[in-house]
Amino acid sequence: MEFPGYALRTADEHLDDIRRAAEDASQRVWPEFLRHGAVGRLHWAQLWTRFPEYQYALVHDETGHIVAIGHSIPLAWRGPLQDLPPEGWEWAIADGMRPSGRPRDTLSALAIIVLPDHQRKGLGRLMVQAMCDIGRRHGLGRLVVPLRPTLKSRYPLTPMDRYVGWRNEDGLPFDPWLRLHVRAGGSVRGVCPRAYTVEGTVDEWEEWTGMRLPESGEYTVPGALAPIEVDADADSVRYVEANVWVAHEVRGPR
Ligand SMILES: CC(C)(COP(=O)(O)OP(=O)(O)OC[C@H]1O[C@@H](n2cnc3c(N)ncnc32)[C@H](O)[C@@H]1OP(=O)(O)O)[C@@H](O)C(=O)NCCC(=O)NCCS
Repeated sequence: MEFPGYALRTADEHLDDIRRAAEDASQRVWPEFLRHGAVGRLHWAQLWTRFPEYQYALVHDETGHIVAIGHSIPLAWRGPLQDLPPEGWEWAIADGMRPSGRPRDTLSALAIIVLPDHQRKGLGRLMVQAMCDIGRRHGLGRLVVPLRPTLKSRYPLTPMDRYVGWRNEDGLPFDPWLRLHVRAGGSVRGVCPRAYTVEGTVDEWEEWTGMRLPESGEYTVPGALAPIEVDADADSVRYVEANVWVAHEVRGPR
């Protein structure tokens, strides 16, 4: 597939540039606490060595700068789409990392980042197309996405299964990232309620959020899709994030 004005590059050929840009972008766009999930910390670095051809970037033709980065992982998972697991993102990365004798035939998205200066110009759509394209190139039949809705953090008290049903006047999803996927042909397969968990001490969470957490209870913190739970006596803080499963067909000519 062609991306006019941009080139699609994958980390099997451009590892250092893409990896450096991805680490920089991740620090800029994610709230700090999100970078401390145990499952992600266990597996993330291996994406670059085991599945570099599924880590990619869009490079602006004129400037040569990386403007967006995508992460995905192939799965040997043949289950029906209604059985996509409640552990969403954490399941996808752990399942992808598990050695499998069976052929991999499903691609799972793990993240797409459009660098802040380049957002709202339609690159998000190109990045989803590029991910489908990479799946097709490797003979994978479908793309599953444990999707983190971008505006959910403004409504942390709303349960995800209510939020996912919110629609605009045109009937499309209220959330712009979910809407983009639906416009691109994706179908919403339901909420994955335990997609991403982050646990830490009170001190750690105070550092990650820049907030004092003086006593036990629920708190809303910037960037979180749901409240965090503080247990001061146990010196522990727990955050469990729900995401939304979306599926795309990617079968077609390579
Ligand atoms: C989510 C993201 C990839 C979207 O990329 P993008 O290139 O900015 O998206 P697009 O320009 O294609 O815009 C898609 C839609 O989102 C809307 N949108 C984008 N940013 C928005 C914002 N901050 N607030 C409201 N709407 C927004 C656009 O208006 C557009 O809406 P439309 O359907 O009415 O046309 C990008 O914002 C990003 O990298 N965010 C940080 C990382 C992230 O959250 N990634 C997604 C989860 S992995």
